[in-house]
Amino acid sequence: MKLIDNFNRIHDYVRISLIDKCNLNCIYCNPSNTLAKFESNKSILSYEELFRLIKILVRDLEVKKIRFTGGEPLIRKDVMKFFEMIYPLKNKYDFEIGITTNGTNLLDKLESLQSSGVDRLNISLDTLSKSKFIAITGKDLFDETISAINKAVQLGFKSVKINMVVIRNVNDDELINFLDYFKSYPVTLRFIEYMPFTGNQWDDSKFLDWNEIKSEIERKYLLTEMQSDGKISKDYFVENTKLKVGFISSISDHFCDSCNRLRITAAGQIKNCLFSNPSNVSLKTLLADETISDEIIAGFIQNSLQTKWQKHPNAHELAALNQNNMMSIGG
Ligand code: GTP
Ligand code: 5AD
Repeated sequence: MKLIDNFNRIHDYVRISLIDKCNLNCIYCNPSNTLAKFESNKSILSYEELFRLIKILVRDLEVKKIRFTGGEPLIRKDVMKFFEMIYPLKNKYDFEIGITTNGTNLLDKLESLQSSGVDRLNISLDTLSKSKFIAITGKDLFDETISAINKAVQLGFKSVKINMVVIRNVNDDELINFLDYFKSYPVTLRFIEYMPFTGNQWDDSKFLDWNEIKSEIERKYLLTEMQSDGKISKDYFVENTKLKVGFISSISDHFCDSCNRLRITAAGQIKNCLFSNPSNVSLKTLLADETISDEIIAGFIQNSLQTKWQKHPNAHELAALNQNNMMSIGG
């Protein structure tokens, strides 16, 4: 059974938050740690519950990609054991595994992640300046992230993407620097429109839309449009380099029509849009109960998808909603 919503969108991509905590306090996500209202360790899905969930998703619901997010997924205790635990599923069912990480705890885990079948790494990096990195994230961990990016590239993961959230007067002066720096890397640089979330101090004056970002890059680099591998990014080859660039236009040009994503919070609630409220009922209760069949759980997930809206509100409506926390769902 495929996961199909009321607007005929097939959902074959599930993003699972492993933990709602992060070791950074990025200004656009969790400034000064003001949004911290964490789940206790007991209320988050255990590794056994996650294993069962993933099995249902890839075996019964034809999900083809699972991406682990956070908070910061790699700070969860024994996370490497978890990746080893799900490896047998990877061998048995046809799906890809991705992780979205801030890269600060990644370096020493890369080889094991690769042998546990992780295909795709998306690593956040918003600046190439060490001092600005501290100003944006609150931590002096620039070198750790850069070393992890270098090693990930050397190890040859199927895909390495670098995510930069572009904010006016913060890092918009570095767009060309990013291409200069990474031009010999076989990676995709993704420039992401700054999105409003509760408490993240978003306003129009800090916002650049993807066309403006692209025009700035085209002052120096020639971009040729390519077929995007995902549905949310507008992707380009960069002439005479190994680089690709992608623009994520969540705000100026939403991609709801082709949305194929479903999210599960660390506590097991279903979030059928990045901007919607999580379900009241948590999958945890179901997953923990062996008397409840996998079929019932698959049906529950399918039903939850039927309340998904056709498109999410626009930027100003979202800013006014003031109810979403990026920190807990990791994008
Ligand atoms: P892949 O396509 O699997 O490489 O991942 P991705 O680009 O979707 O995910 P990533 O975690 O790297 O997130 C990049 C940016 O896209 C972040 O700013 C996310 O918040 C944003 N994003 C991811 N999914 C959605 C979505 O469904 N809707 C919107 N509006 N933004 C999203
Ligand atoms: N707007 C756009 N992207 C964001 N991210 C976190 N907060 C925001 C925001 N307000 C990005 C992170 C990470 C990805 C999961 O989401 O930089 O790369």
